[in-house]
Amino acid sequence: MNQSLQRNTQIQGGQASQMLNKKYIIIQPLAQGSYGCVYQAYDNVEKKFVCIKKIKRLTIHELGGYGIATLNMREYSILNSLNHDNIIKLKDQFYVPNRQQEQKQVEQKEESVTFFMVFDYIDLNLDIYIKDFEKKKCYIPLIQIKSILYQIVLGIYEMHVNGFIHRDIKPANILISKQGQVKIADLGLARQVTSKRQTFTPGWITLWYRPLEMLSNQTNYTKAVDIWSVGCVFGEMVRLMPLFRGQNEPEQAYKIIQSLGYPTEFKDFDCFREKYNPEQSFNYERNFPYLPEDGIDLLQGMLNINPSQRLTAKQCKEHRFFDQIKELSLDQINQMARNQLEQCQKNYLENQKKIEENRLRMQEQEQQRLKLLQQLQQYRQKCESLEASPEYDL
Ligand SMILES: Nc1ncnc2c1ncn2[C@@H]1O[C@H](COP(=O)(O)OP(=O)(O)O)[C@@H](O)[C@H]1O
Ligand SMILES: [Mg+2]
Repeated sequence: MNQSLQRNTQIQGGQASQMLNKKYIIIQPLAQGSYGCVYQAYDNVEKKFVCIKKIKRLTIHELGGYGIATLNMREYSILNSLNHDNIIKLKDQFYVPNRQQEQKQVEQKEESVTFFMVFDYIDLNLDIYIKDFEKKKCYIPLIQIKSILYQIVLGIYEMHVNGFIHRDIKPANILISKQGQVKIADLGLARQVTSKRQTFTPGWITLWYRPLEMLSNQTNYTKAVDIWSVGCVFGEMVRLMPLFRGQNEPEQAYKIIQSLGYPTEFKDFDCFREKYNPEQSFNYERNFPYLPEDGIDLLQGMLNINPSQRLTAKQCKEHRFFDQIKELSLDQINQMARNQLEQCQKNYLENQKKIEENRLRMQEQEQQRLKLLQQLQQYRQKCESLEASPEYDL
């Protein structure tokens, strides 16, 4: 292990590094989720970085020979039944009994353990990747968007044909290596679907990537929810910003409706009818000026408000937008992406200029409007005072 790595193995606050299962050295926390914590670690046997996901305390009974399907363990059992290049693979798992002393602090009297899942360490997630391009003031080369999106679609297709819905597709849950290899991660909210009509808890999926059918509290949603989220990720890669950024559920629903049109299939949203302005709806060509026609067609198909008309994973996979990259290696794609970079930088600056000009024009129009309104009020006041004067009747 090199020196810088050894320095890094001091966990925050200067504590001594922590060794797990006699071979993993914890390096640093990567994220704190609702079901546990994710760490970067070093595998001292294989001599490489790994990612360790710690699942909060489970009782021995819950662990039940790893086979049970509580929410905590669902990720483990679903990961174990999938094997695909674009879905993160479980490398190892182990559990550590909680110490006697800690044990006393928990109300449960039963012996409990902490469960760990180990994955290969992947350099980036798509959220960081998108933000990096934004910082560089450069759009992501189209060939790279195609490649990333195609791999996401292949991973989702694999989940769907095996009867699973991911239910939390968003950039932070999509891992991407420096070579551009994509792995779908965080199957913590994934669920199995059967052909029987099932009901699910409404409101999974991070708000900005949640489709209207989930915002309408429907409980019989389908695999189509994942395709909506993939569409949001696609649009975000193109624009370098999330498509629909609501602060809460009603605002999220309103933003979608205002952009994509009034849904006839959901009754829940009649409250927005007065506010809805069809003139402000999404114009794909204007909002995605550098996306060719086949890309816009795919995006529109993914972002269909009506889940039964939305493209399926299979239809996405077979879409003509991907024809160009199917036969290319990641190396070839990276080379082509490098060649597109300069143009992407130009496009970014050109578009930012257009957006700024548009903002200034709107500001000017607004000022003009306010000025006219003020003049109108002054005229009205004049008229009123004239009407009130004694000479008026004459
Ligand atoms: N295999 C991995 N390699 C590197 N980083 C990872 C890996 N898995 C997860 N991460 C990072 O940790 C974050 C949280 O992991 P995730 O599985 O999404 O758990 P959570 O349930 O906390 O969201 C991810 O957004 C990603 O940045
Ligand atoms: Mg996550």
